[in-house]
Amino acid sequence: MTEYNIAVIPGDGIGIEVMKEALKVLSVLEAKEPDFDLRVENFPWSSDYYLEHGRMMPEDGLEVLQKFQAILFGAIGDARVPDDVTVWELIMPIRKQFQQYVNFRPVKSLPGIESPLSKGEDIDFVIFRENSEGEYSNSGGRMFDSQLTELSLQNTIMTRAGIERITKAACEYAVKNDRKKITSATKSNAIIFSMKLWDEHVKRTLLEYPDLQLESYYIDALVAYFVQRPQTFEVVVASNLFGDILSDLGSGIVGGLGLSPSANINPEKDFPSMFEPVHGSAPDIAGKSIANPIAQIWSAALMLDHLGREDLSKKIVKAIEEVLLEGKVRTADIGGSATTELMGLAIVEKLKEQYVTKKVGTEIHGVK
Ligand code: NAI
Ligand code: MG
Repeated sequence: MTEYNIAVIPGDGIGIEVMKEALKVLSVLEAKEPDFDLRVENFPWSSDYYLEHGRMMPEDGLEVLQKFQAILFGAIGDARVPDDVTVWELIMPIRKQFQQYVNFRPVKSLPGIESPLSKGEDIDFVIFRENSEGEYSNSGGRMFDSQLTELSLQNTIMTRAGIERITKAACEYAVKNDRKKITSATKSNAIIFSMKLWDEHVKRTLLEYPDLQLESYYIDALVAYFVQRPQTFEVVVASNLFGDILSDLGSGIVGGLGLSPSANINPEKDFPSMFEPVHGSAPDIAGKSIANPIAQIWSAALMLDHLGREDLSKKIVKAIEEVLLEGKVRTADIGGSATTELMGLAIVEKLKEQYVTKKVGTEIHGVK
């Protein structure tokens, strides 16, 4: 029996709603797979927690999380707490302290989901977003508040090591998954210090991978190409800010935020990695039970992949694809009227069917 220790942080708003469905899906696997067991611990760190305790997580929060093999995260954000507090006191410390420098975001056509842009060709690429430095470095300051001379300074920190390791992660993924081309997002014509360093070390790292082709585009042109010919991309590598924007665009291209998972990975496994939907807490629909749980459920599948259970991850993705292809159960964001629970249940049922079919097959074989 292999047991995995998982920390679960549902967060705020729809994070709490979609997490429930992801946990139901995982418990099907626990029940059906003799050698798979999860030890799940729930952490209520959220905006409610902040309002009660004056902080997003306890002082020793990171120490507590470090003992787990992975973190499954919902989403945070609540009108009662400034967004920079929720983000910088919970998500960012986890991503940075645990060296989750790869933010992995697949962008993939799904059966039954019409992409406004696919033109009949499948869209299937992944974005490797640098997740530990760059434009989201906690460096800068403000002076002369509320005066006419008021000023702010926000520093972008790019390091050779940071650029190299995200590029390497993208290349390794490409090699392993039979992808031939790396697309780098840059803006070195205007951002001439940090982005030139980016270009140089992306290019230098690619020299170690002679079978991979490198193309490099300015971010403004690249967003247009994402819209005009998304099917031509394979693996995209981008800085923290560019990767953030590109991945929401990628989400929109293939059916919306309700379908888009992501992984914050520490490839060396020195620290736990964290798996979360691309979307936020969606206050506009929170509490209505209409959020699409697929992004969260798929994020749980990415977590299983990372834990070395690719077999189980595939089962979840297959169940999601079957529900979408059938098209009977859909939440509002993808053109239906099903509740979050119904969508979760449909995926649970499809997952269970995978086990039933297997059993019947064996029995028939036995009779013969
Ligand atoms: P959002 O992703 O929460 O919502 C954007 C739009 O997509 C909304 O119209 C929402 O209803 C819709 N949407 C998102 N997820 C959906 C789902 N699963 N099913 C159906 N529709 C869905 O982004 P927004 O509105 O910019 O931010 C809301 C809050 O979330 C803010 O407080 C923000 O800081 C926070 N946020 C947190 C993130 C995280 O926890 N990693 C990431 C992004 C935003
Ligand atoms: Mg984002």
